[in-house]
Amino acid sequence: MARRKIVAGNWKMNKTPSEAVALVEELKPLVASDDVDVVFCVPAIDIIPVAEAVKGTNIAVGAENMYFEEKGAYTGEISPAMLVDAGVKYVVLGHSERREYFAETNETVNKKVLKAFEHGITPIMCCGESLEQREQGVTMDFIRQQVKVGLQNVTADQAKTMVIAYEPIWAIGTGKTATTEQAQEVCAGIRACIAEVYDDATAEAIRIQYGGSVNAATAPELFTQADIDGGLVGGAALKPDFGKIVNYK
Ligand code: PGA
Repeated sequence: MARRKIVAGNWKMNKTPSEAVALVEELKPLVASDDVDVVFCVPAIDIIPVAEAVKGTNIAVGAENMYFEEKGAYTGEISPAMLVDAGVKYVVLGHSERREYFAETNETVNKKVLKAFEHGITPIMCCGESLEQREQGVTMDFIRQQVKVGLQNVTADQAKTMVIAYEPIWAIGTGKTATTEQAQEVCAGIRACIAEVYDDATAEAIRIQYGGSVNAATAPELFTQADIDGGLVGGAALKPDFGKIVNYK
């Protein structure tokens, strides 16, 4: 069975609540699609107004992070139950910016992935190598470790429903998209890794996105590769171009 494409915007730390609503209103008609899942992953404070603004559309709301405890003395954190109650369906976990600036590790990402599943939130688990790792020829070793540790104790049935975003760090926010061949090669490698950890059926079902300077010009070729099931889009998700990326065909 063909996998359904999924294109998610990662707004990062952009847009105040009122700006967020204005952007949703602008993008709503542009991202309408019958055959692509569309997700807006927005800053925590924007979730409630954005969830309201997307009602009746094909847009699902995602969070950019989440804590792995249920509740309690974790000042500043957001729990999975809070996200669910606010209307969140997806959560970006282990983005390279969180790994770099906020001390996320494969182990904390794994705890968050498990917790997201417990609450029925679909994880978009990020992985990707640095430029140094690519030059050293250890890209796939590094990513396999991120994927394997991130998925510890995740069942095959859960894994089938999740999303993995391959985002080479050197391509994020740099305007330097990976070549189609590079992106396809790693996404195929991730799928092979899933087949090893689980089985072929799980590998066939899981959706793998490419992310890193995706734009309206590069999306069509990227998203039609055999192992690329859509994209995680940063900068271009804040512009009308996002509509062209969603409707890349
Ligand atoms: P970019 O960001 O599209 O601006 O490179 C992608 C991401 O970090 O998810």
